[in-house]
Amino acid sequence: MTKQGAIITIDGPSGSGKSTISKRLAAKLGYTFLDTGAMYRAVGLKVERLGIDLADTETLGRMLDNTELRLVPGTDEHVRVYLDNEEVTLAIRTAAMGLVASKVSAHPAVRTKLTHLQREMGRKGRVVAEGRDTGTVVFPEADCKFFLDASPDERARRRCAQLLEKGQTADYEEILAQIKKRDHADSTRTHAPLKPAADAVIIDSSTMSIDEVVAYMLERVGDP
Ligand code: DC
Repeated sequence: MTKQGAIITIDGPSGSGKSTISKRLAAKLGYTFLDTGAMYRAVGLKVERLGIDLADTETLGRMLDNTELRLVPGTDEHVRVYLDNEEVTLAIRTAAMGLVASKVSAHPAVRTKLTHLQREMGRKGRVVAEGRDTGTVVFPEADCKFFLDASPDERARRRCAQLLEKGQTADYEEILAQIKKRDHADSTRTHAPLKPAADAVIIDSSTMSIDEVVAYMLERVGDP
């Protein structure tokens, strides 16, 4: 169904299984995985380190003009993230950085810069782009769009299991509250809010395994 150089977008809230599924789908198709959330996280890290006041649009704009972001595919499914030539792959993966990313992502200047970079990265196609607005704003002409959802309770359960597996502590109620807070912020913001594209295939992964979702997506994508 898809032609050479296709673009596939996968959007949805945090904890819907998006990252794992996007990475897997990209690996199966031999496509590049474009993790747009990682880019918002990296900008968030820089904003925090420099103590930039987000209301100060001039300083924010200057900082963005002087920011270099690179996503480098690793040997496996993992992508390494470089912020001004410093590897920040792990530093951006904390829950706190997720919240900071959510805040910076509401700013039009940040979105404009990252959308531009993402389009550059997708120029040659053969990309699985994952995020909140990849089907609606970044790649409206994408060949195949998915919106992956799951109930807040299921997403909180998955997040707890992940943390416990890593030997960390997990408070279910706190995580559930955090998820709801971030969903609300991401879907009610003025610029590029989290929502399915009109032509997206909506998948509720609450009762599906990762393998089932990937198999279903491969079927929809057809022969790339
Ligand atoms: O997918 P993630 O948890 O790594 O994303 C972190 C934050 O970045 C998320 O809360 C909202 C923002 N984001 C965005 O606004 N647009 C995207 N395309 C991807 C992420």
